[in-house]
This record gives sequence, C-alpha cells and structure tokens, in this order.
Amino acid sequence: MLDKFGRNIDYLRVSVTDRCNLRCCYCMPEEGVEQLSRDEILSLEELERIIRAGSNAGIRRVRITGGEPLVRRDVSTLIKKVSLMPGIKDISLTTNAILLADLAEELKEAGLKRVNISLDTLMEHKYKEITRRGSLGRVLVGIEKALALGLTPVKINVVVQRDFNLDEVRDFIRFTESAPIHVRFIEIMPMGCGGGLSDEFVSAEEIKKIVSEDYSLVKGELAGGGPADYFKVEGYHGTVGFIHAISRHFCARCNRLRLTADGRLRYCLQQEQSLDIKGPLRNGAAEAELVELFGQAVMHKPAGYRSSEWNKNSLMNTIGG
Ligand code: GTP
Ligand code: 5AD
Ligand code: SF4
Repeated sequence: MLDKFGRNIDYLRVSVTDRCNLRCCYCMPEEGVEQLSRDEILSLEELERIIRAGSNAGIRRVRITGGEPLVRRDVSTLIKKVSLMPGIKDISLTTNAILLADLAEELKEAGLKRVNISLDTLMEHKYKEITRRGSLGRVLVGIEKALALGLTPVKINVVVQRDFNLDEVRDFIRFTESAPIHVRFIEIMPMGCGGGLSDEFVSAEEIKKIVSEDYSLVKGELAGGGPADYFKVEGYHGTVGFIHAISRHFCARCNRLRLTADGRLRYCLQQEQSLDIKGPLRNGAAEAELVELFGQAVMHKPAGYRSSEWNKNSLMNTIGG
C-alpha cells in the first residue's frame, strides 16, 4: 500500500493487550493505568479477521506487541492463524521475556519467527528498580531458550537513560561477543510516563561515541523491517543497533500501521489520530470493507513527527511501541 508520500506500508504492529506483568518506570506508573475492559479489547477472532484483511490490503509483516503480549493466553493461537495467512512473510513478537522461557516452544510451534526483547539493564538490582517487579534471571533464561529454538534474530531493546544505564553500554556490547544477540540502543521518547525523564535523554550519537572509545564499529546488517541502523564489532557474533527515535526521525522511511489493543488503526506512533476498525467489524462489516479501512488508514498517515513535546496521553502500553 503506497501512502500520500510514496512510502510502502506493509508492516502492521498489533497490540494484543494493554496489560503488563511489569511496570517499567518510563512506561507505566507503579499502580498501573486504568485497564481496558474485556469487551473493549479485540477478541482472538476479531484480531484474526482484521489481520487477514490487512494481509489482503498489502500487509506483509506482522509484529505482536502489548502491553506484554505473552500475558494474553491465546497469543500462540493467534500467531498460528497469522502464520498460515499466505500474504504474511514475517511474524515477530516484542516482549519483556518474563514468560518467554515457559512459552517459547509453543510459540515456535505456532510459527513465530523471531523475538525482540525489552531489557534495559544486565544487573539484577537495577532490573528490579526499573521494572519494579521483574526478575532478570527469567529474562536471561528466555533469551537462551529463544536462541536454542531459533527464534532468531534475537534483538534486545535497550532504552537508554543517562543516570540509569549509560554506564552499562560496554556490558551490552560484550553481550554480543559470543552469541548472535543483537543489541539496539533506543533514544527515550517523550511519551506517556517517559517524558518526565527528559534530563535522562541520551542521543544515539553520544552512545555511539562512547562505544567507539573502546570498540571499532563497522557497518552491519540485520533482517527486520524496523528503523534501527546496525553496526558490528569485528569478530563478534551479534550486532549493535541504534534507534534514533528523536534525533534523526526516520519518518521518511516509515513502513507501518498500528492496531491498538482497543481496535483502532493508528497511523503514527507519535500522533494520536486513528481510525476505528472494531466498530465497523462489530457492526457486521464484510471483508472488503475492512480491507478498504486499511486503505483509508494508509492515506491518513501523516508525513511524520509534528513536535517533540511530551505526549502524555500516548501510553505505550496500548500502542505497543
Ligand atoms: P524489526 O526491525 O522488524 O525487528 O522491528 P522494530 O525494531 O521496528 O520493533 P520493536 O518493537 O523492537 O521496536 C523497537 C523500537 O523502535 C521501539 O521501542 C521504538 O522506540 C522504535 N520504533 C518502532 N516503530 C517506530 C515508529 O514508527 N516511530 C518511531 N519514532 N519509533 C519507532
Ligand atoms: N521511549 C522509547 N522506547 C520505549 N519503549 C517503551 N516506552 C518507550 C519510550 N518512552 C520501548 C520498550 C520496548 C519497545 C516496544 O518500546 O522498551 O522495547
Ligand atoms: Fe510493560 Fe513494555 Fe511498558 Fe515495560 S515497557 S511496563 S514491558 S509495556
């Protein structure tokens, strides 16, 4: 699907739940946020119908996100159904990996190709501090399991905050040495709870400079459809990526639409406008009408970032990052 700016939109990020088993400081307040009711959230059948319509409209890659997608019990069933859709060439999952070790086999069997894992620190006490309830050990076992089962490439998302984890950049690089683990450093975006931390913002260029003091990075490459720029330390198994979410907008290369947990097609991560697809679906819309809604959503996609102001209303847990 080509949009008004000539971009090919073929990547759908599907948030299957707004719930999460963690409370990362930049994403959710400790007490959590008001949760969507069961009825507001798309059912398994509705997700399947919408994604199928997307594939008929031109979607070729699907990423399952949340909240935390693995807290939803029927996620493997959904993945199985999506992996059987002939148009879909890539199906991946973004997870905090707390439940990954338990579910990896089931996910692999269902047809999941690969996982991206959110992990901001390699130190147990800091992991507890940032997630407020997780266990680093579980995540590390989840990573091992994903590698062993070939849910690859395994990418690690590190949201960098100056006083929290900038000192761990080298440890993350070492993490890529002996295993094919791909670490991506992400600039924190002023969204939801994340905006209050603007003093903590570190640009990708600054991180790259710190890395370059000790390592010589060469251009790297990695399969995927996202905005990361990849490099490599020569001889290391994994790669090192940078996601310039703020300092170098990649909107000109944007290839995605988002389906929110409550059934709206959202055009842009940073802007709130969206198109209701759940309403028409529940009112009996035929497949062709749903396909048409994808076409309309693509035409609504804005050129890109409008401002760098803190968007408090955009909670990552309902959009899925
Ligand atoms: P692949 O490259 O296909 O593996 O996926 P990805 O990197 O797009 O997916 P992931 O869910 O791991 O997203 C990583 C980070 O990229 C997110 O945390 C966001 O910071 C950023 N990101 C993803 N999509 C967008 C987007 O449309 N706009 C902006 N500004 N940032 C995005
Ligand atoms: N800025 C940048 N990345 C964020 N994520 C969540 N909130 C923010 C934010 N404010 C990341 C998570 C996850 C991905 C989907 O989004 O760490 O890896
Ligand atoms: Fe959950 Fe992801 Fe938010 Fe962490 S960043 S609390 S894993 S939704």
